[in-house]
Amino acid sequence: MTWGKIVVVAAAAALLVAIGFASVSFLQPAESLEAIPGQWTEAGHADTTSLSFTYWDDDDPPVIPVGCAQCHSLYGFLDYLGLDGKTPGQVDEPAHIGSVIYCYACHNDAAQTRTSVVFPGGAEVTRLGWESMCLSCHYGRQSTVSVNEATAGVEADTVSEELSFLNVHYGVAAATQYGSEVAVGYQYPERVYVERYRHVENWETCIDCHNAHSTQISVEDCAACHANVVEYDDIYAIREATTDYDGDGDVQKGIKAEIETFHTTLYDAILAYADDVVGVPMIYADQFPYWFSVDPETDGEPDLSELGFADRYQSWTPRLLRAAYNYQFVKKDPGAFTHNPEYALQVLYDSMEDLAERVPVAMDAYTRP
Ligand code: HEC
Ligand code: HEC
Ligand code: HEC
Ligand code: HEC
Ligand code: HEC
Repeated sequence: MTWGKIVVVAAAAALLVAIGFASVSFLQPAESLEAIPGQWTEAGHADTTSLSFTYWDDDDPPVIPVGCAQCHSLYGFLDYLGLDGKTPGQVDEPAHIGSVIYCYACHNDAAQTRTSVVFPGGAEVTRLGWESMCLSCHYGRQSTVSVNEATAGVEADTVSEELSFLNVHYGVAAATQYGSEVAVGYQYPERVYVERYRHVENWETCIDCHNAHSTQISVEDCAACHANVVEYDDIYAIREATTDYDGDGDVQKGIKAEIETFHTTLYDAILAYADDVVGVPMIYADQFPYWFSVDPETDGEPDLSELGFADRYQSWTPRLLRAAYNYQFVKKDPGAFTHNPEYALQVLYDSMEDLAERVPVAMDAYTRP
């Protein structure tokens, strides 16, 4: 254990005692207070072995760069909150390695009194409660603004060496939830997108559904209103919307499955476009940098473990980049079906429709929310 870690753990213990004394009277039953450290330990936030917290350990010098520290270290998050004595809302210094999201990251005055958060792309969300802390790390790293900047001045179907894949990043739940209010999904011009998904009263914010410490959701909560939910996996079968978005005649299956049809169809359209319009085949693999220049017809089934940065796809056109961006946006929010199902369907639909100008996509079957 480093000195930094010892200090943080000691501070966390002291904090627990402090909040414990302050709030034990209104936390019922009292056991739930004792359960908190255990719940936190279960969460990815506390996983000292995760790539999220070890990725920079072998760098020289071993520090977390300014662009990454906000979400991948206690120190970076405190710097972002302004607790380093400098401007709030930005990270000023690279951060020490060796931390996770300790109690103090969320339990300090700055985190608990903040009511607004500025998303990538510049949109500000206001009137927030404690969920503001979740937003700042789960809002992604790109947006409509950065995709438009990257593709400005290039014709839709022109391959440009200047273009490379823009990865929205991971766990982008807040970006999906706030929809068009923050435009982190790629939004096509002259299209209208849904705003924040409000779901239902008292089940709106991150911490209404996710336990703030374990980050888990309890399906018993969902079962109170969604009669189909008995076991955990039944959440994927929740369905309220009555529109048959994917046109297969089934409006009983989970909304997640409707999103998946759009997602798979978009993937096929992306591959067809790369093949037929660009003339350079591509595939997606769920590993950095995601889009690879591989021709399954001549190269056979690719060995994913052999694919590296050198094999990355390099023949981007603006049309292809926008569609691939949205494919990844939905892929990297596994909870999109509950964070904002209509927004996910809209950005996928519009990407399919845009590609349909150049390759066959059976758009007639599909309905845009
Ligand atoms: C300082 C940044 C930060 C804050 C604040 C933060 N998260 Fe996270 N969150 C992360 C990172 C990084 C991971 C990935 C952890 C890993 O890979 O082990 C993550 C993972 C998750 C996961 C995935 C499941 C898991 O346990 O790994 C959920 C769900 C989640 N966070 C919800 C929340 C909620 C809800 C809040 C607010 C109470 C929140 N997060 C606040 C950075 C943050
Ligand atoms: C705005 C917050 C934010 C910033 C800034 C950020 N990340 Fe992340 N990153 C996350 C979250 C949240 C996750 C985990 C999502 C999950 O597991 O649900 C993550 C996950 C990762 C992972 C693990 C991916 C995996 O597949 O397990 C790596 C590696 C990573 N980030 C690298 C970086 C790098 C490098 C930078 C800087 C160039 C960076 N991140 C900047 C929020 C951020
Ligand atoms: C990712 C952010 C995050 C982390 C990390 C975190 N908490 Fe919390 N904590 C919260 C939020 C948000 C709430 C309010 C939950 C609610 O209202 O549903 C909360 C509530 C509490 C409460 C209830 C009393 C109160 O002030 O409302 C205690 C006690 C507590 N946390 C202790 C801890 C301890 C101890 C740790 C470390 C083991 C920890 N927390 C880590 C976000 C966090
Ligand atoms: C209506 C309830 C609800 C709300 C509100 C909500 N979530 Fe979720 N979230 C879920 C469900 C359900 C899942 C899917 C869980 C699963 O598949 O196991 C999920 C998944 C996630 C994941 C991916 C977990 C993983 O295993 O990779 C993250 C990260 C996340 N949520 C963070 C957030 C954040 C941050 C907010 C606030 C902006 C939020 N959620 C708001 C219900 C909700
Ligand atoms: C208090 C009742 C209530 C609770 C609790 C509740 N929901 Fe909902 N949920 C609703 C209502 C009502 C809708 C329809 C909202 C609408 O369409 O505007 C809905 C819609 C949804 C949808 C979208 C379905 C579709 O077809 O568009 C999903 C997914 C969902 N809820 C998941 C969850 C999960 C996961 C939980 C537990 C964490 C949960 N809900 C808890 C009442 C609830």
